[in-house]
Amino acid sequence: MVELKSHEEIERIRVAGGFVASVLAGVREKAAVGVSLLELDAHAHAMIDAAGAHSVYLGYHPSFGAMPYPGVLCTSVNDAALHGLPSSYVLADGDLLSIDFAAELGGWVADSALSFQVGTPDAESARLIDVTERALAAGIAAAKPGARMGDISSAIGQIGRDAGFGINADFGGHGVGRTMHEDPHVPNLGRAGRGLPLRPGLVIAIEPWFMAGGDGYHIDPDGWTIRSADGSRTAHAEHTIAVTEDGPVILTPRVPSAS
Ligand code: MF3
Ligand code: CO
Repeated sequence: MVELKSHEEIERIRVAGGFVASVLAGVREKAAVGVSLLELDAHAHAMIDAAGAHSVYLGYHPSFGAMPYPGVLCTSVNDAALHGLPSSYVLADGDLLSIDFAAELGGWVADSALSFQVGTPDAESARLIDVTERALAAGIAAAKPGARMGDISSAIGQIGRDAGFGINADFGGHGVGRTMHEDPHVPNLGRAGRGLPLRPGLVIAIEPWFMAGGDGYHIDPDGWTIRSADGSRTAHAEHTIAVTEDGPVILTPRVPSAS
């Protein structure tokens, strides 16, 4: 069931969204060659505790997870696209890191993700990250009242396909509110003009993820980490947004970080 949120509820999600954005900025600042994924997770966990927020990842156990989720961040490196577990892996020069973070603050959840390189960037990774961000922006721009879900999906898919990147629609965006995963599903591929009508009060996470190679993925033996089937690099970007009478509003606006 799709639940529309009131102005007051959207303002509360915006508060959670500001916190989520501040954690992503803090993790981005800390991420560097020689830093482990577990250190990044610990940094985010400390920020959660300091804010009186709660992790919605830690212990999360949906049907697709082989075990309860062990961290507060998803840390997906290079060919890992989504749900990379924070491990003792130490970041190396040129790694493409995707950080996904959601948390509850004051009873409301926000969810956001970004991708960047540590150390020396390369042109093809930079293009992958840039196209993913542009697909996110296009998906958000399409989230106008009176449009349909397929307008968001098709805007995302078209940008990824035009760039020649692999797309798999098994995982996508979702409603956000009191919990992290609510109706509706927000696919990364679709047909314009089809699907759920977008009404003011709809709060959704839009989250394109693209692969530099083909459309296939596989899941690691850990039951969580989603990797490109061909080992190509991947990028992921996500915002929680509200559909309002005045158009789409980003509830997790990026906080500038030093790096
Ligand atoms: N934030 C992810 C999403 O956008 C979900 C992460 S799965 C978890 O759907 F188990 F880590 F929470
Ligand atoms: Co999400």
